Amino acid sequence: MFQSKFFIVYMVTANQLRKLYLDFHKSKGHSIIPSSPLVPKEDPTVLFNTAGMQPIIPYLTGLATHPAGNMLANSQKCIRTDDILEVGDNRHLTFFEMLGNWSIGAYFKKEIIEWSMEFLTSKDWLGLDSNRLFVTVYQGNGRDVDVDSEAAAYWQSEYTKLGMEALVGPDYSQSLEDTLKTNQNRVSRIRTMSGKDNWWGLPYKGPCGPCSEMYYLLPDQPIDFETSILPKLSVQERVQWIDDNIIEIGNNVFMQYIGEKDGDKEPVNLSDMPSKNIDTGLGFERFLTVINGYKTVYETDLFATTLATVEKYSKSSL
Ligand code: GLY
Repeated sequence: MFQSKFFIVYMVTANQLRKLYLDFHKSKGHSIIPSSPLVPKEDPTVLFNTAGMQPIIPYLTGLATHPAGNMLANSQKCIRTDDILEVGDNRHLTFFEMLGNWSIGAYFKKEIIEWSMEFLTSKDWLGLDSNRLFVTVYQGNGRDVDVDSEAAAYWQSEYTKLGMEALVGPDYSQSLEDTLKTNQNRVSRIRTMSGKDNWWGLPYKGPCGPCSEMYYLLPDQPIDFETSILPKLSVQERVQWIDDNIIEIGNNVFMQYIGEKDGDKEPVNLSDMPSKNIDTGLGFERFLTVINGYKTVYETDLFATTLATVEKYSKSSL
């Protein structure tokens, strides 16, 4: 890590990040399991593993008991075919790793929210600045699933422990644009989002649940952006600025239902799973990019040396 006059940049290598993640979850009692093969052996629904949870589905749904127990963590090799059209931007890759941890009925919202905050902000682990961390919770579907005020309360309690006020959107149904207008440029620290972003499941009927996403303000942007940058921008520009500079780093899915999504991307046809589970997923390369303050995954140590070598021998710049 080095500290410049203006901001702190955390220099974390890919191997350090993977090791820290697995060591942290081991210290909390998880068994570290190997990545499953990229091409699933026993799942005819997909060509490739698309998420860390894919090989864990039989255990989450109670069809089988995992030999390593009910608290698991790993770094899973994935190809997310859904995202293939996004590849070529600054953060989507064809092949990627997902850092994941799972509770199969062992712990739930309280523990995972406490541990997420600890892993991200404790000086013993990543030591990220909590002032840069923003989170979301599910806003409810107006039918059978309520706003996730339980997850919001646990996040508030974690921010309070760090001496921070955590503003929740004043009205759980407001859009970001409305929230900025109402809050006079204050961005809700804990924001509620619709099923499109905050209900996670596979693209067919299967295990799913409300999720809580974690976002990080890029290290090269000022912490006082609400007063130093937002007031100079129109509402539309503010929304774009936030989208470009406060980046999702991962999610905790409170995976407790079997269900699917309707045309509005909201959950329908829900039934309870045998246990209330946790499925955490952190996109490894994107997470590495954001916490180091890079603009693209290609600046991380996973790619930089190879790209520099290609540039050197091809005598061109990429
Ligand atoms: N944790 C679920 C996913 O984002 O893949």
